[in-house]
Amino acid sequence: MPLTVQIARHGGIEEMKLIDLPVGEPGPGQIRIRHHAIGLNYIDVYQRSGLYQLPMPLTLGMEGAGVIEAVGEGVMHLKAGDRAAYASNPPGSYSEVRIMPAQAVCKLPDDISFDTGAAMMLKGLTAQYLLRKTLPVEGLQPGDHILWHAAAGGVGLIACQWAKALGYQLIATAGSEEKCALALANGAVHAINYRVDDFAARVREITGGQGVKVVYDSVGKDTWDKSLECLRPLGLMASFGNASGPVPPFAPGILAPKCLYVTRATLFVHIATRESCQKMADDLFDVVRSGQVKIHIDQRFPLDQVQAAHRALEARQTTGSTVLTV
Ligand SMILES: NC(=O)c1ccc[n+]([C@@H]2O[C@H](COP(=O)([O-])OP(=O)(O)OC[C@H]3O[C@@H](n4cnc5c(N)ncnc54)[C@H](OP(=O)(O)O)[C@@H]3O)[C@@H](O)[C@H]2O)c1
Repeated sequence: MPLTVQIARHGGIEEMKLIDLPVGEPGPGQIRIRHHAIGLNYIDVYQRSGLYQLPMPLTLGMEGAGVIEAVGEGVMHLKAGDRAAYASNPPGSYSEVRIMPAQAVCKLPDDISFDTGAAMMLKGLTAQYLLRKTLPVEGLQPGDHILWHAAAGGVGLIACQWAKALGYQLIATAGSEEKCALALANGAVHAINYRVDDFAARVREITGGQGVKVVYDSVGKDTWDKSLECLRPLGLMASFGNASGPVPPFAPGILAPKCLYVTRATLFVHIATRESCQKMADDLFDVVRSGQVKIHIDQRFPLDQVQAAHRALEARQTTGSTVLTV
């Protein structure tokens, strides 16, 4: 029987257990996929720990690449034998084989490897909707500064390169000198070690006191207040994650002095239809195939070492993308 990583309750890494689980035939609108590689994402930590509550038992994982084994009734865009990759609800990619809705599963171009597909779908589609669709009210023009936290991570390294391709001056933050160097090597124009330096003061300096039009903040609790300081009037606070913990409740009045905008953005709204998902994936495939965005797979763990993979991710020891191998 195929191997699967399941949790029976929310908790620490020790809750993740490798089990044999039978996999049947896909129903209407579903596919069965045999994974060749699985993507690791910070959302897997939230879903494991219980920050995001989900019904149990649960197979974690929202990103993967492999070969379609069977398709259910009504699935038109995929067939058995196709190479495919996805970022998708519900979780379940920490497995050798799974059944899932076909809607967000995309054909993987032949010149993109399974490892790259698994490393880039969730992270790359996130960079796509943020840089392309989550924009300040005054828009972004080439030359504009933007601030991106945790810029040496999975989503971050893709964003550094994509922002450069779009002509934006991305100011990166990251948690070590090595990570700052990596962000700079991938297209950031400035990098701030926010464990040492006051990033709001540095952003003021870099932008000549003006501030940035948009902050892309996936760190959450630890960076929220200072991120608001970094924004110029009418700027957008695009909050999209909680690596340091969720942002506490706040009074809207704090936005008034600069008339700021706030969004709490999430990928799954953007890929809710087959059409929008495919359009975004095509955009991602284009920047990867053109070489404008390179997918850095800086860590690989066998699926049965998934506990070590989570430990490294939570300890801020990873850079770029991490793939679980099957
Ligand atoms: N809303 C969405 O649509 C969406 C989609 C995808 C991802 N996300 C979010 O985007 C973020 C990046 O995801 P990813 O999978 O690519 O992860 P990642 O960036 O590779 O890893 C998370 C990074 O967050 C930073 N961080 C800051 N404070 C931390 C803390 N207290 N504990 C742990 N890490 C901390 C660390 O980098 P430094 O050491 O450099 O600080 C760490 O490497 C996550 O917050 C994730 O939830 C959101």
